[in-house]
Amino acid sequence: MSTTVLVPVYDVDLYADDVLADPYPHYTRIRELGRVVWMPVHEMWAISRYEDVKAVLQDWKTYSSAQGVSVDAEAGKNMAGTLLASDPPVHTPQRKVLNDRLTPFNLRELEASIDAWADELVAQLVEQGRFDAVTELAKPFPLSVIFNIVGLPQGGREHMLAWADAAFNAQGPANERSAAALPKLLGPGGLHDWIVTHAKRQHVSEDGIAAWIYDSVNRGEIDDNQALWLLLAFATAGIDTTVNALSWAVYYFAQHPEQWQLLREDPSLVPNAFNEVLRIETPIQGWARTVTTDHALAGVRIRAGDRLLVLFASANRDELFWDQPECFDVRRNASPQLAFGRGIHVCAGMGLAKLEGHAILKALAARVGRFSLAGEPQLHLNNVVRGLGSLPVEVR
Ligand code: HEM
Repeated sequence: MSTTVLVPVYDVDLYADDVLADPYPHYTRIRELGRVVWMPVHEMWAISRYEDVKAVLQDWKTYSSAQGVSVDAEAGKNMAGTLLASDPPVHTPQRKVLNDRLTPFNLRELEASIDAWADELVAQLVEQGRFDAVTELAKPFPLSVIFNIVGLPQGGREHMLAWADAAFNAQGPANERSAAALPKLLGPGGLHDWIVTHAKRQHVSEDGIAAWIYDSVNRGEIDDNQALWLLLAFATAGIDTTVNALSWAVYYFAQHPEQWQLLREDPSLVPNAFNEVLRIETPIQGWARTVTTDHALAGVRIRAGDRLLVLFASANRDELFWDQPECFDVRRNASPQLAFGRGIHVCAGMGLAKLEGHAILKALAARVGRFSLAGEPQLHLNNVVRGLGSLPVEVR
């Protein structure tokens, strides 16, 4: 006797403009449909529940990154072998180069400088009284931090935000946004061009992370091509994600003055508040994995070669894990949030991103009694990163 198991299907383009503008009802629907849902538009499975997302991220042997994590399988293959798009043993030495540099000790050394840069920028904006929290705060701050600590030459600075945006768009499905991104990354005058011509070993500052990455080739730890991609990944991954985390932080505190009050009264809530922002507006909404062996996942048969869309942002709003997930509350324990991923690919810049987020929130808490919106916030649509393009605020 044969039985037919009906597989839940969600026939929607998750990367259409209207869906990117408000993805949450779609994630809710996907969670309701089942733990493993087939997405015909993308020809891949979607995983949306907290426990499943966590388990998939922790099992690189079954759910591999070696074919890339882009939604478009072909685009993913172009990155194969790089830090993000590899499994052990290829992943291990590349990751070690970053881990050896971003130790808790080294991060502690950076903390005072990052706090001082944040305080200086926030003081100047508060003095203005009215500013755009995206273009004047959330964008320039991570850009300065990355250029300073990576030690990149200043020449590329004016293009880096556009390159970072393109780097994430390129990792979505094959749509207009990813097609428009490719020339900015790989075309003449693009990011790759700039790195190979203007960010060579002799152009980067002596004590920055870029020099450290180049020197890891001389130390025999990684090859030239891996070093180049590590630099590309580090520069871009560290910008758009943090920009959007900071933008959403201001947005949520402007919408919830009572939560801002709680933070001001008790600044020890800052680390948890940053986690709560990342939970409720997860910068990297979802990335892919490729299945390595035939098996059943939550009762659904999936085969070697199948692709999974791992929805970090849905996991962070899963009602089976979080109490009232739609509610922004800096007092809930938000530390299990999955915005930085889990397992061997867990964000290599997590410690740095937290230093940046905490520094900005501390500086704002010390100087701002209340935010109010001074204009309509504008979304900025990107295939992978959920963010704002403009957020005019007034502070008192
Ligand atoms: C709030 C800010 C950030 C968020 C939400 C974030 C999120 C993530 C996530 C979800 C991953 C895992 C991808 C996967 O499992 O396939 C990741 C990996 C990575 N992130 Fe971040 N990130 C942030 C900031 C940064 C910063 C500041 C840097 C560096 C300056 C950085 C560098 C990287 C790198 C190099 C990887 C690849 C790690 C690997 O594959 O082993 N990120 N990030």
